[in-house]
Amino acid sequence: MESHNWKVIVLMGVPGSGKGTEAQILSHLDPKYIHISTGQLLRDLENDPSADVRDKALLHQMKEGKLVDDTLVYRLAFDAIEKTLSENHVAILDGAIRSVNQAMHYEKFFEEKGIEKDVAIIEIQLSDDISFKRLTTRKVCADCGYIIPYSIDNFKKTLCEKCGGALMVRTDDHPETVIKRIEAQGNKVLQPILDYYKQVGTVFSVDGNRSIPEVDVDIRKILGISP
Ligand code: AP5
Ligand code: MG
Repeated sequence: MESHNWKVIVLMGVPGSGKGTEAQILSHLDPKYIHISTGQLLRDLENDPSADVRDKALLHQMKEGKLVDDTLVYRLAFDAIEKTLSENHVAILDGAIRSVNQAMHYEKFFEEKGIEKDVAIIEIQLSDDISFKRLTTRKVCADCGYIIPYSIDNFKKTLCEKCGGALMVRTDDHPETVIKRIEAQGNKVLQPILDYYKQVGTVFSVDGNRSIPEVDVDIRKILGISP
């Protein structure tokens, strides 16, 4: 595909579709790509002892697998995007848009910044069933957030191969919370958001059921990034 000077790349997909995995590959490839995960921003807030207690009180929704209050998400995400743009970097948004209302709100923000034509929407397609399997077997590094897929070898690992931190299971990856997340954020909820984007522009799609490197190659093709 013809290369375009994208300023924001929006990764859409059900929980577990590989948004974080693919964003971390691109950001390790080139430091101009800044991975902005709203889930991670919310977890950082939770672990920040100096954070506002009213903001922290809103995080109970996350623990229950539900969507967190929009205004908190906008505040965290818009600040991170503005910082990225001001440094002439490219923002990769991971999970930042999870309702039609949020999509419309982000669209207004992008228009205010004059970048609405430089936003690539990429859907990583995955069924809810495979999402469940991946999330309930995922491990992440408690220190750097590095995500590792399930495999027999990875299952035995206790330390992060990137930074040596301890590997953990995310508190919202326990099966009962994953079921709730898929109910609240699975394909049934994702479809109207994609329909909205198809009405206002282009949605690129990749098959998230392929291997991690294959999905990466597909995303790079869309973005015009050479292998
Ligand atoms: P967040 O942290 O974003 O969680 P999520 O959307 O539930 O997504 P995940 O991180 O679970 O999945 P992912 O697509 O990043 O998959 P990953 O790459 O890890 O959000 C947490 C919570 O915050 C939400 O539940 C909500 O409460 C709140 N929140 C966040 N944003 C919000 C918003 N905008 N509005 C309101 N609330 C918000 O991959 C999963 C596993 O699969 C890994 O083990 C990975 O290694 C493996 N894997 C990845 N790709 C492949 C592949 N191709 N083949 C095999 N395995 C693969
Ligand atoms: Mg993620």
